[in-house]
Amino acid sequence: MPRKSQLRWAYRMDRLPPYLFGIINETRHRMRQAGRDVIDLAMGNPDRPTPEHIVQKMIEAVADGKNHRYSVSKGIFNLRRHVALYYKDRYGVTLDPDREVVQCIGSKEGISHMALAMLGPGDTALVPSPFFPIHVYTAIISGANVINVPMFDPQDGNGDAASATLDVDRFLGRLAMAAKQIHPTPKMLYLNFPHNPTAAVVELDFFKEVVKIARRHHMAIIQDFAYKDIVFDGYRSPSIMEVPGAKDVAVEFWTLSKSYNMAGWRVGFCVGNELMCSALAKIKGYYDYGHFQAVQIAAIIALKSPKELVSGIAQVYEKRRDVLIQGLNRIGWPCTAPKASMFAWAPLPKDFLKMGSMKFSLLLLEKAEVAVSPGIGFGEEGEGFVRIALVENEHRIRQAVRQIGHVLQESRGHSSSFTLSRNVKTPNG
Ligand SMILES: Cc1ncc(COP(=O)(O)O)c(C=O)c1O
Repeated sequence: MPRKSQLRWAYRMDRLPPYLFGIINETRHRMRQAGRDVIDLAMGNPDRPTPEHIVQKMIEAVADGKNHRYSVSKGIFNLRRHVALYYKDRYGVTLDPDREVVQCIGSKEGISHMALAMLGPGDTALVPSPFFPIHVYTAIISGANVINVPMFDPQDGNGDAASATLDVDRFLGRLAMAAKQIHPTPKMLYLNFPHNPTAAVVELDFFKEVVKIARRHHMAIIQDFAYKDIVFDGYRSPSIMEVPGAKDVAVEFWTLSKSYNMAGWRVGFCVGNELMCSALAKIKGYYDYGHFQAVQIAAIIALKSPKELVSGIAQVYEKRRDVLIQGLNRIGWPCTAPKASMFAWAPLPKDFLKMGSMKFSLLLLEKAEVAVSPGIGFGEEGEGFVRIALVENEHRIRQAVRQIGHVLQESRGHSSSFTLSRNVKTPNG
């Protein structure tokens, strides 16, 4: 907590809730300082290094003094041109590098500034829930209202929150209803498939229907495509840009963070609707001078890499997923295998449901020395789940499962008596 002061921060800061993952982060930090070996499966932070040829290009570009000046805030033309070529090759989509592609300093920066450029007081954004927190909070910072649309509902047919299998028709029905009934009509819809945190996936038909709804109600769409390449079992994640007419209403954000193990490099892109791209480019022009040019040059090399490089990265996660899911099921914690993303979305084991996801995560952290993310951190609809990130190697994941297994065994039956090592107030008491 900041020390007591006569100063006041901006009103918009009061609209931001306390950071729920902070409790987990703080406890993990304390445990590590005490010398405990925490297996960290909490944050979706890729653990493997960037491929060597990209690093080598970066070293070369850093040494070139021409790259040391301010760059272009929406990204150098050659990088935007390669993004357009990439979309043509992978999705058959034609993009104008000048008007329909913007480079951002990581997709998080782009998504945040897009909210500031498109939303303001009096506007409403629809965000499916559970949600990736920045989708909600950047809209809030912009002064807009946020309405959550549940992704899962107990009434859904084939859909089932416990397996993160969307009942696509009923979810579309909820989106269409929200777009139609909320007054004034929501200005923006946030989508994120493959989804963080639930790992839910969709097919192109879903995007076709969503684009129809958005066109009918003149509603803009942001599709966050961060996990597009982390796909398993032959699943292919469609781009919303493949839908004819998508560009009339939608932009798609993509990032090199996950596809190329380049999270620290901060390279993301926004593609699609010209008005939205120009709004983002304009606001970025006021906020930044562009990314370090050497990084942009190395990003071009990433985009030109053979497709097998990316599928190889996905395979590493797929093997870890198999180890995790088989292991959890073996220790009596049923969990469905995700088809994409870096996460398993696991319903709390039956005996621990009452405890709530925050206390359960703290139990796993303090007793099993395994950090996971409590579902409540992704919105109320996330309660009853934890998100487990596939960001340690197979050996460590196996070890994590063993440690979790012991704790579940020991704690079953007296889960309600588990006391936190600190007096932490959680959303569940
Ligand atoms: C759904 C989603 N979108 C965006 C991001 C941010 O990615 P970037 O590194 O491009 O800012 C993340 C990072 O975890 C994410 O999970």
